[in-house]
Amino acid sequence: MVTRILVVDDEEDFRNLLVKRLNRKNFSATGAASGLEALDFLADRVFEVALIDLKMPGMEGLELLQRIKKNQSETEVVVLTGHGTTESAVEAMKLGAYDYLTKPVNLKELQVLLDKAVEKASLKRQNQGLKAALERENVADQRLIGTSRSIKQLKQLIGKVANSDSPVLVIGESGTGKELVSRALHYESHRTEAPFIVVNCGALPEQLMESELFGHEKGAFTGAQERKPGLVEMAEGGSLFLDEIGELPLGLQTKLLRFMENGEFRRVGDNRLRWVETRIIAATNSVLEQEIEAGNFREDLYYRLNVVKIAVPPLRERGEDVPLLVEHFMKKMALNKQMSSEALKELQKYHFPGNVRELRNLVERGILLSEGQYILSEDMFGCVQKKVTATTLTLKEVERNHIECILRRNNWNKKRTAEILGISVRNLYRKLENYEIEPE
Ligand SMILES: Nc1ncnc2c1ncn2[C@@H]1O[C@H](COP(=O)(O)OP(=O)(O)OP(=O)(O)O)[C@@H](O)[C@H]1O
Ligand SMILES: [Mg+2]
Repeated sequence: MVTRILVVDDEEDFRNLLVKRLNRKNFSATGAASGLEALDFLADRVFEVALIDLKMPGMEGLELLQRIKKNQSETEVVVLTGHGTTESAVEAMKLGAYDYLTKPVNLKELQVLLDKAVEKASLKRQNQGLKAALERENVADQRLIGTSRSIKQLKQLIGKVANSDSPVLVIGESGTGKELVSRALHYESHRTEAPFIVVNCGALPEQLMESELFGHEKGAFTGAQERKPGLVEMAEGGSLFLDEIGELPLGLQTKLLRFMENGEFRRVGDNRLRWVETRIIAATNSVLEQEIEAGNFREDLYYRLNVVKIAVPPLRERGEDVPLLVEHFMKKMALNKQMSSEALKELQKYHFPGNVRELRNLVERGILLSEGQYILSEDMFGCVQKKVTATTLTLKEVERNHIECILRRNNWNKKRTAEILGISVRNLYRKLENYEIEPE
């Protein structure tokens, strides 16, 4: 991350020299000639460190320090003092300065100090890094299972693009593993030590979503009692996973686009510009092209997101992966049960409208309902496969029967049925309409 430093000193030559040198050292430095000018800059954007000369005409350094500590407490302040003025340096430390340096400034010393100040500012992030590491321990559990051609290609593509910083758009039906793919992209990248932050774009109304994503200042709205950094800040140096991107409110789409273009954003209720580097991974199971047609999604945002597109194939197109997935889920859930070969065959033929999630739910259900050691297909599918021979049915008919059966078994409770099928309630309603399924 680039550290932004504000150099406040009335001596023009010294100030310019310092700014130039700092910029050469990979800092992003800006010069201000007076306390007032400094406040202008600070009101405009966030600086990690302010380097302040104590002796200036007009507003003195100590006063500026106090104002910063009051209004921009995230900024660490380092003061510069002349020879033999240790008293004011001590005073500055009491008022909350991070440290002081005596003029003439030794550049090496300054660099060490700045690095330390920056480190302090990023302590919070290290905590998050720790969390990321903990999460990574579970990653073995989150491997992409499958040896079909399409899964192999998928893994190859992930390996190829993981280390680039370009945005990725992950598309695919519900339950195919879009989130798993997105996590793989993160953990196989150089960002693996930094956080992987998940944002569910459809979870909140626009205003709350904005504050969730970009943060807010104290008092930005009723209920905002404390200032809160946004999820974009949490994801600094890591990846920001925007799930269900198609559901992001239009107003926020504009703000997201701007953020994606230059990393700039503002917290709600704060005029200051902030800057963060993170990789964007977005996922959706809606057809964004249609959402654009319908005026629900910004075309320019779509093009910005769609730099790399990864399509996760539906499970019905990779039946050979089914046994491996079954084994994987069985291992996790039940050590003493086995899938009967008859049941496995049925699974391999099945249409899986809810994809891998549905398979997992079916296995879980089979484990629960099976009486002996072996799971039979009727334990998972119930009435469907018993009444008719599945081979005489089209896939659509199998799906229709299955949905109807699960609905019946659950007293036509749509929420519960959608859960078992591993699809959204909205998706279930669509299917009920298409298949003209109605309660008897
Ligand atoms: N290839 C796979 N190997 C192992 N587990 C998988 C695989 N694909 C998906 N899963 C598992 O299936 C479940 C659904 O996956 P995930 O949440 O990633 O799907 P999704 O595409 O994001 O679904 P939705 O569109 O509903 O959000 C998860 O429990 C996930 O771990
Ligand atoms: Mg998902």
